[in-house]
Amino acid sequence: MKVSVIGAGHVGEMTAMRIANKELVDEVVLVDIIEGMPQGKSLDMWESAPVEGFDTKLTGSNGYEETAGSDVTIITAGLARKPGMSRDDLLAKNTEIITDVVRKVTDHSPETIIIMVTNPLDVMAYVALEVSGFESHRVMGMAGILDTARFRSFVALELDVSVRDIQAMVLGGHGDTMVPLPRYATVAGIPLPDLLPQDTIDAIVKRTRGGGGEIVSLLKEGSAYYAPSAAVTEMVEAITRDSKRILPCAAWLTGEYGLNDLFMGVPVKLGSRGIEEILEVELNDQEQSALQTSADHVKSNLEKVDL
Ligand SMILES: NC(=O)c1ccc[n+]([C@@H]2O[C@H](COP(=O)([O-])OP(=O)(O)OC[C@H]3O[C@@H](n4cnc5c(N)ncnc54)[C@H](O)[C@@H]3O)[C@@H](O)[C@H]2O)c1
Repeated sequence: MKVSVIGAGHVGEMTAMRIANKELVDEVVLVDIIEGMPQGKSLDMWESAPVEGFDTKLTGSNGYEETAGSDVTIITAGLARKPGMSRDDLLAKNTEIITDVVRKVTDHSPETIIIMVTNPLDVMAYVALEVSGFESHRVMGMAGILDTARFRSFVALELDVSVRDIQAMVLGGHGDTMVPLPRYATVAGIPLPDLLPQDTIDAIVKRTRGGGGEIVSLLKEGSAYYAPSAAVTEMVEAITRDSKRILPCAAWLTGEYGLNDLFMGVPVKLGSRGIEEILEVELNDQEQSALQTSADHVKSNLEKVDL
């Protein structure tokens, strides 16, 4: 199997390295517009293979010939946030970049599954769906796993327990309006509200919503990439191993949760066909209304897209 990663910046390079290290596929192709950069990074990663002990081949390119026949394509190309910027501030420039990238990707890999990473995520996933003309189960966005991982990591810190025992679900758009669902969070099967007072849960929800911004303001240059690349790799693993994981991903909604014609983070079953099912969990009035607010925000951004 082959995976291509378009955009060999922070998220792209780290994703390529993680996929190779786990030997999820036979070959990873890294593409970027900066001359020599994806070639240099992929060669450097390949030279780590004898020490790390993986056989996944890594190739770098400034073109798309090497990506031909990719099973999965991860798109991280485009601008990242700087301090003071919201994800939405990236919309116009990244729409241009993603339109061009998706045309080239689909020309060379008409059967590929696309995982969008570039922000604003829910809008760029829509651009990929429109430009590719693919069935919606083959186009998805990475956000929910990252947002959920942030939530789980903060709960682990608060309770001083292993992250492994914490399950959680974050729905909605990838932005300040995301909808963490503490009611569905558990620690080794114990509902989170039984273990933490409401004000502590509220503080964790708030920190999760601002999790990306917290990293941006600490880094000053660029945005998060360790946790984002881990989240993308988990999606690639579910697809390439056809493991039918239930993971929160940005999926094209056609009536689920009462929402239509937009990408939003929802629990999906991920396997070799891409999104094999969208799961609908019961939401109370407050959660449904928060999801609607998030959807309204994504919709207002979609109106700014000019394809
Ligand atoms: N969905 C998420 O949860 C999530 C998480 C982290 C980052 N992101 C987003 O992912 C994107 C990448 O982030 P990053 O930190 O890797 O940024 P980065 O600046 O380190 O890397 C982006 C790369 O894209 C390349 N690029 C630009 N135009 C291109 C084109 N037309 N073709 C190929 N490559 C091109 C650039 O040369 C650069 O190397 C940003 O939009 C960021 O906001 C999303």
